[in-house]
Amino acid sequence: MTPRDDNYKATWNARSTNLLDGMLAVDGSADEAVLARTGAYTAAQLRAALAPGRDEHLFEIGCGVGRLGAQLAPEAASWTGLDIADNMAALARQRLAGVPGATALALDGPRLAPLADATMDKGWCVAVFIHMDKEDMVLYLREVARVLRPGGLFYFDHWNLAHPVGWRRFAYEVDEVGRSDPAQRKDVARNQFCTPEELRLYVRHAGLELVFEHSDSPWVQMVVRRPDGDATRRDAERARLEAARPAIACTPLWTRLFAEACEVLIEGVHPATMLARWRALGDAGPEVPLFIAWLEAAWRRQPQSWPPQAA
Ligand SMILES: C[S@@+](CC[C@H](N)C(=O)[O-])C[C@H]1O[C@@H](n2cnc3c(N)ncnc32)[C@H](O)[C@@H]1O
Repeated sequence: MTPRDDNYKATWNARSTNLLDGMLAVDGSADEAVLARTGAYTAAQLRAALAPGRDEHLFEIGCGVGRLGAQLAPEAASWTGLDIADNMAALARQRLAGVPGATALALDGPRLAPLADATMDKGWCVAVFIHMDKEDMVLYLREVARVLRPGGLFYFDHWNLAHPVGWRRFAYEVDEVGRSDPAQRKDVARNQFCTPEELRLYVRHAGLELVFEHSDSPWVQMVVRRPDGDATRRDAERARLEAARPAIACTPLWTRLFAEACEVLIEGVHPATMLARWRALGDAGPEVPLFIAWLEAAWRRQPQSWPPQAA
């Protein structure tokens, strides 16, 4: 690891010097069509979680190349993407240049400095808190409580250490650290893991109220709210979110496919074997074509990672 890799900004800037690398860092596909598909899938979950309105002001922490902003910004009054990497923010700005009210800005640390107090209606942070130390996540959550208007909503996710598949993903990281040079600093952007209980504590101490949680998957998904002292409105929000749970929650099929993707990426199963297995699932759910497209793109990008199979 070079000295310039020892902070978030340098690390993520180095991963996004061009669009292809930026896309790779965001969803692992480096493929515009796959990025649009994975973005559409997650955006549907965000729509169900946040019910964003046309007149609402939205923000995103860790916007990357604007994978989710591209889906949701056109449906809102404004979208402000924020990212620690200047390169990511620039890529997101370019990609959303034609969308009125959309902008992306670079951050200097875990402060949402570009956003004024109580000005945002809704926000989200997807696949970003997993890449930082807990102190930084809590600092961001405090900032969320500052910038949301009272009653405003925020969605975020985190790797779920308490789920068997989440643990399996964590065990891979443990083994990687075990294989690495102990004299080297750990990658600041490595994957980190939390239990749902721990996240509930962070939310509460940041001054936010939890209105939705789904933890029955390798992800913990939470929707939190800036308190406004109106228990009736808070309970109505909870009821709406409960009704929307099937559309927000990471599904059992997603969990299964993700576990099987780990067999390819971590445990050496050949992509051709897995793709055949997944194609045999037919139309079991929208996750199947999503994972197929994603694995095909990953295989195309790195054919050398797997030996050719005998015909
Ligand atoms: C895996 S990508 C996800 C991007 C986007 N949320 C999405 O789902 O398409 C992680 C993003 O978080 C950003 N990021 C990493 N650490 C950060 C930090 N400490 N503060 C803000 N953004 C950060 C990275 O630059 C990168 O764009």
